[in-house]
Amino acid sequence: MSLRDGDCEVWIARTDLARTTRADATYAEPAHARTTHSGPSSAYGGTGSAYGGTGSAYAGLEHAGTSYPGLIGDLNEVERERLAAYRRTADRNRFVLGCAITRRVVGAYLGVDPADVPLDRTCQDCGKPHGKVRVAGDPLRLSVSHSGDLVLVAFHRSNEIGVDVEQVNPDLDTSTLASVVLAPEEVEALASVPSAERARAFTTYWTRKEAVLKATGDGMRVELSRLVISSPSSAAKVLRWRRFPAEHIHLQDIRLPDAGHVAALADLGPKAVPVVTRDAATILS
Ligand SMILES: CC(C)(COP(=O)(O)OP(=O)(O)OC[C@H]1O[C@@H](n2cnc3c(N)ncnc32)[C@H](O)[C@@H]1OP(=O)(O)O)[C@@H](O)C(=O)NCCC(=O)NCCS
Repeated sequence: MSLRDGDCEVWIARTDLARTTRADATYAEPAHARTTHSGPSSAYGGTGSAYGGTGSAYAGLEHAGTSYPGLIGDLNEVERERLAAYRRTADRNRFVLGCAITRRVVGAYLGVDPADVPLDRTCQDCGKPHGKVRVAGDPLRLSVSHSGDLVLVAFHRSNEIGVDVEQVNPDLDTSTLASVVLAPEEVEALASVPSAERARAFTTYWTRKEAVLKATGDGMRVELSRLVISSPSSAAKVLRWRRFPAEHIHLQDIRLPDAGHVAALADLGPKAVPVVTRDAATILS
């Protein structure tokens, strides 16, 4: 697996695992996997697989509500505990997909089994394993996001990155949210958007801001209204932010296969990284 130097690869999965991009995704298995990974009874899943499915050591989790028992064997103990704590099947499914994409892409990159990828999920605030995920001992950077029917995992060999995807809710109370999340000039720009398009425009602001906050690692602890972003009708760009020099944050919208969602990617490298999207269905089946 390449993870070509300089590119930011964004792997996209639909929760129904339909193909999400053209069938041009490139995923080369590590040599050790090629010997065992063939067809539905592969080491990556399927009935009787070593990693999950009926008959595996973790088959019980299937009944705990995920639709992807064949992927659970990729997860480590900490991830399985987090999985078990989700109440809703949709949350479980999105979490499993995020873990599996992360582990399979990084595993192929490092030449190790997905389950053996050394991931560090330590939260900088509380020490619990729900923070920004890193590969222990490797400069590779990644960012995970899930919403609605999509799961995105972005990878770059060295630059800090943040990705965010959100499902557009047409019934969003944009005026209330805007008063909290947006700067005055952003509120004004949103008000000029036709009402039928306002939920999408607000969600675009949101994903752009959250992508930046995930790249820096701040998350939602900081005041979103102080991070000022270009209007949704223009190219994504950070206009002002006191916490970090705006010229060092590169922001771009990600084109998605599903019109009901919007997504953005931020990177903190010296110049904007080219984004390449990949269909995660090719590595999850
Ligand atoms: C990061 C954050 C913005 C994600 O919010 P979200 O919209 O609910 O979720 P997304 O699906 O877009 O992203 C989730 C991913 O963000 C990543 N993440 C967690 N904390 C992060 C941080 N500080 N910076 C960047 N990424 C982070 C994780 O990889 C997570 O994936 P996982 O659930 O599979 O482990 C939000 O969780 C946050 O603000 N966290 C930090 C502050 C906080 O709440 N701390 C309290 C815990 S002590």
